[in-house]
Amino acid sequence: MIQLQMLSKGYTERKKVLDQISLTLKKGEFVYVLGGTGAGKSTLLRMLATEELPSEGSLSLFGYDLAKVNGSTLQAIRRSIGYVPQNVRLISDFSVFENVALGVSLAGSRVLRAEVRSKIYELLDRLSLMNLRDTPASKLSGGEAQRVAIARALARGPELLIADEPTGAQDFQNTWNVMDLLQRANISGTTMVLATHDREIVRKLRKRCAILSHGKIMIEEALCSL
Ligand SMILES: Nc1ncnc2c1ncn2[C@@H]1O[C@H](COP(=O)(O)OP(=O)(O)OP(=O)(O)O)[C@@H](O)[C@H]1O
Ligand SMILES: [Mg+2]
Repeated sequence: MIQLQMLSKGYTERKKVLDQISLTLKKGEFVYVLGGTGAGKSTLLRMLATEELPSEGSLSLFGYDLAKVNGSTLQAIRRSIGYVPQNVRLISDFSVFENVALGVSLAGSRVLRAEVRSKIYELLDRLSLMNLRDTPASKLSGGEAQRVAIARALARGPELLIADEPTGAQDFQNTWNVMDLLQRANISGTTMVLATHDREIVRKLRKRCAILSHGKIMIEEALCSL
């Protein structure tokens, strides 16, 4: 599903944020990406979300080397990925429902099939967003906007979900509502890459960990120290 080989990424000539890291992730796996602030978690996740290319080394998604794919294959890869960026981007004058619907169809919410509509409502309900469904995104709190971005990424039923600190702006209850949804998606087959600083989550839901430090990656299969 994901294969990184000797991947390096730097924004300047002198400093590499990621330095020859390798990682293989199989379909249906769940991995935490851990590491201190500035360790390169978001940089790695942006590459997995095809927003940036590596400086060196290779990155394959769904068996395709991203340096070699054509435009239509890249579009197909992107449609199979749900991405929750660290700084969520919503369309400010679209409602919560419309923003989530964008995850499914760029044609807008009016043409959605009934079962897609009910799936979106279920996501809104589980994320305590139902009463905000008609509210424009510009009027949401940071935590609410983050949950909308999570709902949007999950709405399409992605094969791969890449979530960058998706509980970073959530209180206790919402953190576990989000984690419950992510777990369910994973159990139904979605491969999960989750960057987090939350020790409670990592301690309670034991998964494989990829720990970034000084440009290198360390993989721990179960227990990891955060
Ligand atoms: N667009 C950019 N241009 C230049 N440097 C960047 C850019 N994006 C990130 N960096 C640098 O790369 C390093 C890693 O940043 P990154 O955002 O990946 O860290 P992070 O592990 O996600 O941190 P945090 O936990 O604070 O979100 C930092 O030193 C940062 O300053
Ligand atoms: Mg980050």
